[in-house]
Amino acid sequence: MATYTTATRTSPSTHRSVPSFGTFRRGGAGATATAGTAGAAGAAGTAGTATLDASVLAQGRRDQLRELPSKPDPVMSAQEVDVYYGDFRALTKVSLDFGKNEITALIGPSGCGKSTLLRSLNRMNDTVPGARVEGLITYHGQDVYGADVDPIDVRRRVGMVFQRPNPFPKSIYDNIAFGPTSIGTKVPGGKSGMDDLVEECLTKAALWDEVKGKLKQSAYGLSGGQQQRLCIARTLAVKPDVILMDEPCSALDPIATSRIEDCMLALREDYTIIIVTHNMQQAARVADRTAFFTALAEEGSGDRTGLLVEHDLTTNIFRSPRDKRTEDYISGRFG
Ligand SMILES: Nc1ncnc2c1ncn2[C@@H]1O[C@H](COP(=O)(O)OP(=O)(O)OP(=O)(O)O)[C@@H](O)[C@H]1O
Ligand SMILES: [Mg+2]
Repeated sequence: MATYTTATRTSPSTHRSVPSFGTFRRGGAGATATAGTAGAAGAAGTAGTATLDASVLAQGRRDQLRELPSKPDPVMSAQEVDVYYGDFRALTKVSLDFGKNEITALIGPSGCGKSTLLRSLNRMNDTVPGARVEGLITYHGQDVYGADVDPIDVRRRVGMVFQRPNPFPKSIYDNIAFGPTSIGTKVPGGKSGMDDLVEECLTKAALWDEVKGKLKQSAYGLSGGQQQRLCIARTLAVKPDVILMDEPCSALDPIATSRIEDCMLALREDYTIIIVTHNMQQAARVADRTAFFTALAEEGSGDRTGLLVEHDLTTNIFRSPRDKRTEDYISGRFG
């Protein structure tokens, strides 16, 4: 069996607390920025990166670079994770921490397992026959695949937004109200409490001003970009604290994409976001940290299995990647 090494392995995490899925409440101790390196990193560059596409970062980030801890303060963590579909190992030994109130971008060529990892984080892969996860995935230190953990509860805490906007064939209002109602969450305050929740979620998703006068109209009457923000609002309604996004802008034009990116940066204040993107500019614009994956042929079977190559502050990944494979991908020579 082939063995692989990755350029960067996050060390096993020290978690601050272990709330159970049943009792978890959002909030609590926030991450304290410590030895920030992001700002300084932006100015750094090495001779080896002179060939990188400078326009990627030259277009600028959408936020002011902020101080970040050198290692993420993990809300979720993957440790030595393998994911199989039947006998096929789609991901091999992935170890990665996802920091609180950070946006992490997963990038890499098609088939390297980005969506597989994302779906493993909230147990969406449970619905795929033959899919199985080995290793450890934790949420606030708790094993997501623990025997006593309800996958529905995991998906509520760790929400997901898909590539194509997929609103329900319902009104804008009911798209938001459906989640809490269907899982039996009692929204305090009855009808007016639900009204408040709908407004809160649509506001957070930067859609309220555009739809407040037509909440009872069909969600299908919205543009693609509006539908995607509605799907983000729908995800927020069941009170997650992690949001997974699998290429959420790939079907959108640049203006709609820009709105989603603004929305992500605003949401980062309260949520942890993990986004898969093929758009290097997008990763450079919004992600605090970026993880680059690739796929390598396994000895024997020849099957291509996905590996984490490196994970670092986004500015470091784009300006001074440590692995040649990352540099080749970022600069468009591979993938
Ligand atoms: N349901 C499935 N059953 C079997 N194999 C699968 C399944 N889903 C994905 N795979 C395989 O797992 C590997 C990783 O796929 P995945 O969709 O995670 O890649 P990706 O990095 O998201 O690619 P893309 O950028 O094209 O979306 C691929 O070889 C793919 O064919
Ligand atoms: Mg994918």
